[in-house]
Amino acid sequence: MTTTRRAFVGASAAAAAHVWVPKPVTGYTAEDIIGPVTPHRAGISKSELETPALCVDLDKLERNIAKMQRTANANKIGVRPHAKTHRCAAIGKLQMAAGALGLCAAKLSEAEALLDAGIPNMLMTTSNLPASKIRKAMQLKKRFPGFIQAVDYSQNALDLNAAAREAGISADVVIDVAVGTRSGIPPGEDAIRLAQLVDKQPNLKLRGLLSYDGGVQHVAGFATRKERALAAIEENARTQQRMKASGLNTEIFSGGGTGTYNIYHLVPDFTDVQVGSYIFMDMQYIAIGNADGQPVYDDFEPSLTVLATVVNNRFPGRLTTDAGAKALTINVPRAGVIGEPGFDYNAGSDEFGSITFKDARKEWKMGDRMELIVPHCDPAVNLYDYIYATRQDRVEAVWEVTARGHSQ
Ligand SMILES: Cc1ncc(COP(=O)(O)O)c(C=O)c1O
Repeated sequence: MTTTRRAFVGASAAAAAHVWVPKPVTGYTAEDIIGPVTPHRAGISKSELETPALCVDLDKLERNIAKMQRTANANKIGVRPHAKTHRCAAIGKLQMAAGALGLCAAKLSEAEALLDAGIPNMLMTTSNLPASKIRKAMQLKKRFPGFIQAVDYSQNALDLNAAAREAGISADVVIDVAVGTRSGIPPGEDAIRLAQLVDKQPNLKLRGLLSYDGGVQHVAGFATRKERALAAIEENARTQQRMKASGLNTEIFSGGGTGTYNIYHLVPDFTDVQVGSYIFMDMQYIAIGNADGQPVYDDFEPSLTVLATVVNNRFPGRLTTDAGAKALTINVPRAGVIGEPGFDYNAGSDEFGSITFKDARKEWKMGDRMELIVPHCDPAVNLYDYIYATRQDRVEAVWEVTARGHSQ
């Protein structure tokens, strides 16, 4: 037997007053579907933010930016921060104002959004595929002369030259020379031949090379990390020397990240570090330890937090918050709860964070706020439309995550 909803509700309501009758369903509103598109305004107190909310502590952020620039200046190299971490034009402008050479981008659409938002110099650290993207990259170069493109194989270089010719421009190119096996062309003969090929193309201008070692950044212990980083880049450094000796342009020799920012200046002719995470820090980086042998990497301060609310405190030794995987992305290492070192924060479920603990430093009530240090900053930032830039308890600015979701 089939029963219409109206007949069922009517019959049930008549039969018993205590039967729950759902309200008429009118469908989703635009707001339900799109989500809260209006951010909170600057000027409010941090405690008024609805959660989960992505916050950056401005005092810490500013100190991180200043320290990186100061260190690089002292080491006589440049800073070319990687925008993949923040995707935020406002933060990129602070880095530029501090003395950065330009920013790096990992994705073409990310580069485009940030260039459109006023970042003048952008180095794309990945090569573009397929041909449609190569053509888009060259259209971007036409609009923004400060755009530099990485290349890591010969067909890509030839396609880039054709696209540059079609766009009526000369494209600035760097060779992505691999350290490890993730991306890039192997160092040595292969890399040199590719540099020569680029150098011969009428519409390409060789500017140098990249050598980013993703595998070494999180090696625990400064001394071990330094030894491994310098050993791993040796062949790339020899390649750069050979390129230079043969008359190829190596005015850019860029690489490095937050774990090696104070190591690569020891590589001859190395020009700049592509540091990303240092502005925010995260649990992955905190765990690598510092140069004094302490377990916490404290060269930079954790400025980025996700503000969360306790939504359940009714089970002993447990708390539930409103910040799960959709607020933090990955769950390894666990998010850190500021002020509660004994909390184990599991962000494994979509909407909820589940905390287990033996001892708490305070009695946590329903509705209490807690601040979390994210497991890994780059993907966490990409979940949010806005970053709330705070000083003490005040929201001083609301920054759009300019290239949020720009992953092509
Ligand atoms: C090519 C490249 N350069 C620089 C960075 C920045 O590294 P970090 O966030 O460790 O400073 C990354 C990060 O993944 C990268 O892929």
